[in-house]
Amino acid sequence: MNAYQITGIDGLASLSLTKLPSVKPGFGEVRIGLKAVSLNYRDYMNVMGLHGVTGPTPRVPCSDGAGVIEACGDGVEGWKPGDRVVCPFMPSWLDGPFSQHHSARALGGTVDGLLRKSAVVAASALLPVPDYLSLTEAATLPCAAVTAWDALIVRGQLKLGETVLVLGSGGVSVFALQIAKLVGAKVLAISSSDEKCQKLSTLGADAVHNYRVDPNWDDWALAQTQGIGVDKVVEIGGPETLNRSIKATRFGGHISLIGVLTGTAGSVQTVQILRKGIRLDGTYVGSRQMFSDLLRAFEQAQIHPVIDSIFPFEQAKDAFAHLASGKHFGKIVIEV
Ligand SMILES: NC(=O)c1ccc[n+]([C@@H]2O[C@H](COP(=O)([O-])OP(=O)(O)OC[C@H]3O[C@@H](n4cnc5c(N)ncnc54)[C@H](OP(=O)(O)O)[C@@H]3O)[C@@H](O)[C@H]2O)c1
Repeated sequence: MNAYQITGIDGLASLSLTKLPSVKPGFGEVRIGLKAVSLNYRDYMNVMGLHGVTGPTPRVPCSDGAGVIEACGDGVEGWKPGDRVVCPFMPSWLDGPFSQHHSARALGGTVDGLLRKSAVVAASALLPVPDYLSLTEAATLPCAAVTAWDALIVRGQLKLGETVLVLGSGGVSVFALQIAKLVGAKVLAISSSDEKCQKLSTLGADAVHNYRVDPNWDDWALAQTQGIGVDKVVEIGGPETLNRSIKATRFGGHISLIGVLTGTAGSVQTVQILRKGIRLDGTYVGSRQMFSDLLRAFEQAQIHPVIDSIFPFEQAKDAFAHLASGKHFGKIVIEV
């Protein structure tokens, strides 16, 4: 079985295509023949060792994949070979509160991920892919879409008519835009180019702002809300964007702290968080139950993920390089 493994600390040079034995599923497990894997910035961090992100080597990268069940182990009920399935980011987090136990089992982190022809997983973790979605589309959902769902719907309790600020046009942010519009929220979106701003408008953003042309997007967001500030921010930037996000948020607003695109530590205007009574909410993807709720909502509204590009399995390194370029809009997929 062909698989990619992170074999060392030399970035993409250490991403090696290799052969691994195809494993027979044990009790309660199924083997999935993977058809598509999508990339997240986290996968890139894992391959490159960015921000101190490391793990055991060799290990298979990538958390997000969808495919078809090839074989079921003993004790598996409700699944059969041929079923189209998608696997949650943390297969052990079925429902309830987040924990260190689940975090340690995130695919492609300290355990093997899905950038391979087949994988054995717990049957209890899997979710069926709705008929209206292709497997390529389904593979984009486990990390980025579930994170956006958790940020806005679960933690944010987003309501009709509220205003959401999304930063950039990567995987999480584009899903956040789609989810916010689904709920009937107003969306303010910032991006690095006029072309991407135009695409965000086409997707439903109510106002867009090029942060390269004018880096003061916090003031822009305030102006867009008559000086009040937005209700929710999907914060994917980290230390270099957080202070602007805090400024752009209304009193009593909510910031889901999600990303590390500008680093993992920095100076934060803590006093503004307390003065404005902002809920600053660390968010780490979400549970299988959240994923299931998302799939139901997406199916009902027939929401299709925005796919930027699709790479063949043999060109996985090019897919990572494309992610690193920041030229993408939405999700990058590798077809297996
Ligand atoms: N906590 C979690 O559960 C979780 C889950 C998923 C992702 N994440 C994190 O969230 C971040 C985004 O992940 P992703 O997979 O969506 O990444 P991605 O698809 O690679 O998206 C990155 C995009 O963010 C925008 N961006 C970059 N720097 C920016 C800045 N300084 N200000 C505003 N926008 C900026 C750019 O879009 P434009 O060119 O349009 O500006 C860029 O293309 C990463 O740090 C990732 O590790 C965390």
